[in-house]
Order: sequence, then structure tokens, then C-alpha cells
Amino acid sequence: MKYNFDIGIDRRGTSCVKWDMNEIIFGREDVLPLWVADMDFEVPPCVTDAILKRASHPAYGYTKRPDSLNEAVVSWEKNRHGWEIEKEWLVFTPGIVPAINFFVDCFTQKGDGIIIQTPVYHPFIEACEWNERKLVNNQLTLTESGYEIDFDLLEKQAKDPSVKMMIMSSPHNPVGKVFSEAELRMTGNICCMNNVLLISDEIHQDIIYTGYKHICTAMLSDEIADNTITCIAPSKTFNIAGLQLSAVIISDKIKRDKFFKYIMTKGLNGSNIFGIVAGEAAYKYGEPWLNSLLKYLEGNIDFMEDFFEKSLPMVKMHRPQSTYLAWLDFRSLGLTQEELVRRMVHEAGLGLNDGSSFGPGGEGFMRLNFACPRSTLEEGLNRL
Ligand SMILES: Cc1ncc(COP(=O)(O)O)c(C=O)c1O
Repeated sequence: MKYNFDIGIDRRGTSCVKWDMNEIIFGREDVLPLWVADMDFEVPPCVTDAILKRASHPAYGYTKRPDSLNEAVVSWEKNRHGWEIEKEWLVFTPGIVPAINFFVDCFTQKGDGIIIQTPVYHPFIEACEWNERKLVNNQLTLTESGYEIDFDLLEKQAKDPSVKMMIMSSPHNPVGKVFSEAELRMTGNICCMNNVLLISDEIHQDIIYTGYKHICTAMLSDEIADNTITCIAPSKTFNIAGLQLSAVIISDKIKRDKFFKYIMTKGLNGSNIFGIVAGEAAYKYGEPWLNSLLKYLEGNIDFMEDFFEKSLPMVKMHRPQSTYLAWLDFRSLGLTQEELVRRMVHEAGLGLNDGSSFGPGGEGFMRLNFACPRSTLEEGLNRL
């Protein structure tokens, strides 16, 4: 393997959220942090090279996004996902969490209903609460074969005239599900028929494991495309979240113009100079690195599966189809969530995400980030 992911990177002392905030987040220094969704690996060399090259030119003034960045995004979507988009459909934002808050503010009013699917990435919940919207929970149903969407409930919820938006994590964080074409089509159609704007957050679209294929929701029909805003970013894929570059794809001109105007009124139409060069280099030259990374991550999943089966059969791992986040089910232990979290931090010395922070359906679960060298993962599992 050209890239050696067994060699991690010491991130301590770099103002790193994962490694430098143990005391603040967990109340003790000595936990092994396997939580926030970035990776303990070096970025692809093409990214470092691009940043160093740009940094060596010592003028960092106002910078426009070059057309080559747009072209890199368009090519990536076409080659990796088979989705043909126009450059004009792109609007750049400094992150997907900011973008989601902007959508809520721009396309809905106070008191409007917004559908989410818990247990889900908690900033979706916060975007509704902070903006004083009504949370409408289409909770995912856990069956023997995994998580499923309750479409009867979704139809009922979408029909309520006060419901104006649905925010979907596709693939889904934290449950790691890759939605099927049928599920996405059904969701897209229900939203279209009921005039509910669909936000398809596809930030995890590139982290997909053997046997699964990510489908971009907006590819499914012209009607669905017109009613969908898609969120993508190089940040999860190439480990550059700190560079704050993400893109939203809006094919419908009226919605795009409205959103672009909104971005302008917030004075946020610029991007960070290093985010620009890193994002472009990653999309243009980072694919071989990504393919190696996926093999390594899949090896980590096999390792965890084997570990749980042999050593901790009372913990059930839902084998991730996507994302580098394992959704661990501790319910058979019969502990309260408070006790589960206390034991995790104070007895195991492990810093995981508390499942209940992802909303209803998250109680009894913890989320573990396995984008780390296998030796770190092994230490984490032994602590568990
Ligand atoms: C579904 C989802 N959306 C958005 C983000 C974060 O986006 P950003 O860092 O661009 O704000 C994450 C990070 O884990 C995520 O899982």
C-alpha cells in the first residue's frame, strides 16, 4: 500500500478539538478521544503540497475562487458519483453546519416545521431549535436488518401545511446507513408532492464501503432536483475540516438566487485561501489516497466486528455501510445513559459521543470514530 495509515499523527498541542479538549469535554485529561468526526491520519500529500506551494507566496490578501475549483467539484461529482452538475449550480459556504442554519433561516419562518430523522447528527436538531422552528421527528426504525424510514409517518408529517423543510443525512450519521435508490426516491417524491424543501446533506458521500453505492438524491428526477439542495464538502473525505470549505448544489435558479442573495447579505461569499487550494487539489489528485483510505477503514471495521464478536458480544455494532463512525448498541447492559457515559469516561477512559446527544433513539448507544491507526483502535477497544 502506497499510503501507510498504520502511522498516525500526534495531534496534541495543535489546538485540536479531538485531542486538546479532553478536560473540557470529558472532565479528565487521560481519556482516549474517539469522537468528533475527523481523522487521525495525515492528509493526502497533494493537499499538503498545494498548501505549502501557496504559502510560499507571501501575500495572503483577498482571493477569489478560481474557475478551476468549480471544475474540480463538477468532475468529482461526475466521476465518483455519476452526477452531472453545472458549475453555476454551486454556492460555496464556510461549512455545512453554517449552510444548514442558513437554509433554515432563508427558506422557512419562525414556527415552521422541519422534518429530521433521529438519531441524527445533532446540529440538525440545534439548527431547528436555535432558529425557533418546530422539530418534526421522523425517527428511524431499528429492525433486525438495520435502520429503516417510516414512510407512512413521513407522508403524514409532510402533508402538514406548517412543515416546510426536511433535513436528511445521506449517508446517515450516526447510524452509518447508505439509503437505497428506492428510499431516496420515495423521500424525494414525498417532499416534492407536499412542497417540503429537501436538504440532502451528503457530506459523507465519499466514505462508502464494499457492497454499497451512494446515490445523490437530486439525480433521481428533474422534479426531485428542483426541490432539493445538496450539501457536499472535501472536509470529511480528505480530513480538511479546519480549512472550512464546503459547497451546496442548487439546480433550481429561483432557490439558488435567493440563497446567494442571503449569503451576500451575511457578507459570507469569500472562502479561505488555503481552503480553496486544498479543496481543489484534493478533488483533482486525492482519489488514489481516498481509495487506499477506504480499504484501511474497512479493515478497521472488520477488526471491530471480530473484537465485539469474540470479546464483547453484549455490545452490538451496526456494521457501517458508510462514514468512519461506529454506532454501538449497549442496551443489553441495561444501564441508564448517565451510567453508561460515566463508565465510558471514568472506568474505561474512553472519549466517545453520547448516543443520546443524537436525539430520540440514541439512548443506550455510543458513537465511536474509527478513523485512526489500528493500534489506537485496538487500545480503545481494550479499554472498553
Ligand atoms: C451529516 C454532517 N453534516 C455536516 C457535518 C459538519 O460539517 P461542517 O464541518 O462542514 O460544518 C458533519 C460532521 O460530522 C456531519 O456528520
